[in-house]
Amino acid sequence: MPDAYILGIESSCDETAAAVVRSGEQVISNVVASQIAMHQPYGGVVPELASREHLRAIVPVVRQALAEAHQNYQSVDAIAVTQGPGLAGALLVGISYAKTLAFALDKPLIAINHLEGHIHAVLLEERQKGNHEVQFPVLALVVSGGHTHLYLAAQKSQGWTYENIGHTRDDAAGEAFDKVAKLVGLGYPGGPIVDRLAPHGDPNAVKFPPAQIKHRDRRSHRREDRRGPKEMESDRLRFDFSYSGIKTAVLRYVEIHDMHRSIEIRRKALANISKPKLEDYLANCDKRTLDLVASFQRAIVEDLVGKTLAAARAYDVATLFVTGGVAANSELRSTFERNGAQEGLPVYFPSRPLSTDNAAMIAAAAYPKFLAKDFAGMDFSAEANLLLR
Ligand code: KG4
Ligand code: ZN
Repeated sequence: MPDAYILGIESSCDETAAAVVRSGEQVISNVVASQIAMHQPYGGVVPELASREHLRAIVPVVRQALAEAHQNYQSVDAIAVTQGPGLAGALLVGISYAKTLAFALDKPLIAINHLEGHIHAVLLEERQKGNHEVQFPVLALVVSGGHTHLYLAAQKSQGWTYENIGHTRDDAAGEAFDKVAKLVGLGYPGGPIVDRLAPHGDPNAVKFPPAQIKHRDRRSHRREDRRGPKEMESDRLRFDFSYSGIKTAVLRYVEIHDMHRSIEIRRKALANISKPKLEDYLANCDKRTLDLVASFQRAIVEDLVGKTLAAARAYDVATLFVTGGVAANSELRSTFERNGAQEGLPVYFPSRPLSTDNAAMIAAAAYPKFLAKDFAGMDFSAEANLLLR
């Protein structure tokens, strides 16, 4: 099989990204234009602004990815693009451009689920390191700003299938990081800031009660699921998450300890620094705040690791993947590595640049579909709530 060069395009949230990946196993170029600075003053992603910024960035980002890969529009073998889930307007920018390229160049077009992309970021880098022998069954935790999902992943002939065995009932883990950071005046996005501040606080200072989730005998919960009849009938063990309670607990802690004034002072001080460094954050945080964020992170990490390893044991999986933006978190990585090793379970993460949103993962996920000639028609559209199955 000759090498296939796939151009990947990703625009589901606040990153405009394009990449060229060879045969699902070698990143040739990987360009990410982040909109973080633009959304920062609003403390979160503003969908309308995101779409406009994608429109501005998409052509130069794709050109740069091709140039860095020493490829051109004609030389790539296929064009892959994120179909969903994500912000509808943002997704449409990538999809429209990918369709235009595929039509004008007469190249195959491949539609990719963003969550499948995050899973393939792990596979891509393992292959890149020479590991072609991932042991099945695989359990994948996709943990990001929009998702906290557990999938059993299986390879069927050339394609992949996924079974969801758990997801968040409310906030995603990354969303909780972002909301808590905003609440204590640390800015956006919260995950990377909390990650760097947590080692400076006491993770045992504040006790957060574990999230109470009624699992209805831990079997697939039927009513609140928007899944198809096949899955609704399934009677498999479930491992769901919930992170809105901890956010409320942080808010209560802030109120009880009368922290609002100091938070406002911090917010203003940090807003006046164009790119705050760790020292700037530390200079503006008292011990109580550092203890709070360290304890918050510890609680989230323990919950994610505890539930995921319980699911791994219940389904007797051979390998665990942890991927998505929150997989960049240092404490999450070290805890998974330590606890996974104790159970004899290999745990794979993407490198940090491929943990957060990128297009290399989209091009990698497209490769099995390219081999299977599983191409998209020109009539597919953005699906904000696209499910992975
Ligand atoms: O995968 P991603 O780039 O976008 C989504 O698909 O959502 O994930 C972004 C999320 C944000 O919530 C961000 O705060 C979080 O990942 N994040 C982190 C870290 N880096 C990014 N959370 C905790 N620790 C980090 N180091
Ligand atoms: Zn993502």
